[in-house]
Amino acid sequence: MPVLVVVGAQWGDEGKGKVTDLLCEEADVVVRYQGGNNAGHTVENAYGKFALHLVPSGIFHQHVLAIIGNGVVVDPTVLRKEIDELESRGVSTANLRVSAGAHLIMPYHILLDRVYEVRLGKGKIGTTGRGIGPAYADKAARQGVRMQDVLDPHTFREQVKAFMAAKAEVLVKAYDQDVGHLEEECERYIEAAESLRPYIDDTALLLWNALRREERVLLEGAQGTMLDLDHGTYPYVTSSNPVAGYACVGSGIGPMELSEVWGVTKAYTTRVGEGPFPTELTGEEGDYLREVGQEFGTTTGRPRRCGWLDLVVLRHAARINGLTGLCLTKLDVLDGLDAIKVCTAYRYQGEEIREMPPSQAVFAKVEPVYEELPGWKTDISGITSARDLPNETIDFLNFVVRNVRVPISLISLGPRREQHIKVPHPDHVQRASDGRQA
Ligand code: IMP
Repeated sequence: MPVLVVVGAQWGDEGKGKVTDLLCEEADVVVRYQGGNNAGHTVENAYGKFALHLVPSGIFHQHVLAIIGNGVVVDPTVLRKEIDELESRGVSTANLRVSAGAHLIMPYHILLDRVYEVRLGKGKIGTTGRGIGPAYADKAARQGVRMQDVLDPHTFREQVKAFMAAKAEVLVKAYDQDVGHLEEECERYIEAAESLRPYIDDTALLLWNALRREERVLLEGAQGTMLDLDHGTYPYVTSSNPVAGYACVGSGIGPMELSEVWGVTKAYTTRVGEGPFPTELTGEEGDYLREVGQEFGTTTGRPRRCGWLDLVVLRHAARINGLTGLCLTKLDVLDGLDAIKVCTAYRYQGEEIREMPPSQAVFAKVEPVYEELPGWKTDISGITSARDLPNETIDFLNFVVRNVRVPISLISLGPRREQHIKVPHPDHVQRASDGRQA
C-alpha cells in the first residue's frame, strides 16, 4: 500500500466504508481527511453493527492508529457519542487521535445551515443539516474554534461565547430566529469538546513519524468527487474537498508521499440532495435500483436518487484524482436486470461530448448517450474469484476499464465483508475460457 488514498468517484455513498474497512487490515495508520458527520457508514463485524460518522473504521483494528485529520470538521457531541458507543460495546478507542487543527462544529453552525436552506427555498442545496457549510465558512473567515483551543478551557469558553453572540445577532436580526436555547446548547458542546482532550494530538507529526518508519497509511476521503467544492457540481456540493489532492492538506503530509489513489464507484449511480444528475432514473428502473440496492441515506435516511453508471463522471474523477485503481461496488445489485445501460457520453444541442462540460449550466441540460450491455441474470453475490464471474459480468467490467482507462482493483458484490474479489490482473479481467489464471 505504502500510502493509499481512497476517494469517492461519484456523489458519495459509493461504499467507501466497506472498502476502507477491508483495506484497514493491511494498514498501520488510517486517516479521515475532510468532511464531518455529514458522512456515515455502517460497519458490521465481530463487535456488532455500528453507524460511524466521524471515527475511521480503523478503530476496530487495535494495531491501527485511527486519525481524524485537521481537514475534518468535528461535532464534539457526535464524536463523544461514537466513542461512548464503541467503548460500551467493547471496542477500545485508545488508538484514536484527533488533530489539534480540526475545527469544531458549534450549535450556531447547525442553526445557520438550516436557516440558509429555508432561505434558498426551491434553490436549496439539500444539505444534511449538520452545520458543515457554516463551520467550513467560519474556518475560511478565520472565525472558527479548533480542537487545540479546548486545551485552554477558560479562553475556549470565552471564544465560543463571543462567536455565539455575533452569530445570535445575525440569526435574530437577519433571519428572525429564536436563539433562546443557544447558550445552553453551546454549553453542552463545550463540555463534550473538553471531554475529548485526551484524544487531541499533533496528528501531522504522528503521520510524519509513521512514514519515516515506512508504515502503511490509508487516507480516507468522505463524500465524493462530484460533491467537491472545486471540482463537483457547484453549488450542489459539500463545503470541503473530497478529492485526493486534499488528502495531503487535510492530513498534513506532502504530495510526494502518496503512492496510489483508488476511486470507489458503484456499478450504477446515486445522489442525495439537489442538483443535476444526467443518468437519473425517475421511473420503475430507479425504484428497482433503490429497493435492491437499499439506497437510503446512512446519515439522514433520505431515499437516494438512482440512475445508470455514468462514465463521463468516472473519467472526470479519474483525471481530477489521478486514479490508479477503481473499486467497483454493489455489482450484485444488477443481477436481476435483462440489460444494463452505461452512459458513455452526453448530448448537448445536437453535439456529442465525451468529457465533463466546463459549465454547470450546460451540465444541467445534457442528455446521456447510452450503450446497452446484456445482463447476466445470475446471482453473483457468492462468487469469490474474478474468473468465475459470468462472461456478461466480465464484459461489463472490461467495458468500464476500457472507457475510464483505470484498472479495476477490487469488486464488491454484497454487503458482507467476505463478499469481495481482489482482481489480480486489473487492467483486463480475464474470462475462465481465456485459459489463464485470473
Ligand atoms: P452538506 O455536506 O451537509 O453541506 O450537504 C451538501 C450536499 O452534499 C448535499 O447534497 C448532501 O446530500 C451531500 N452530502 C453530504 N455528505 C454526503 C455523504 O456522505 N454522502 C452523500 N451525499 C452527501
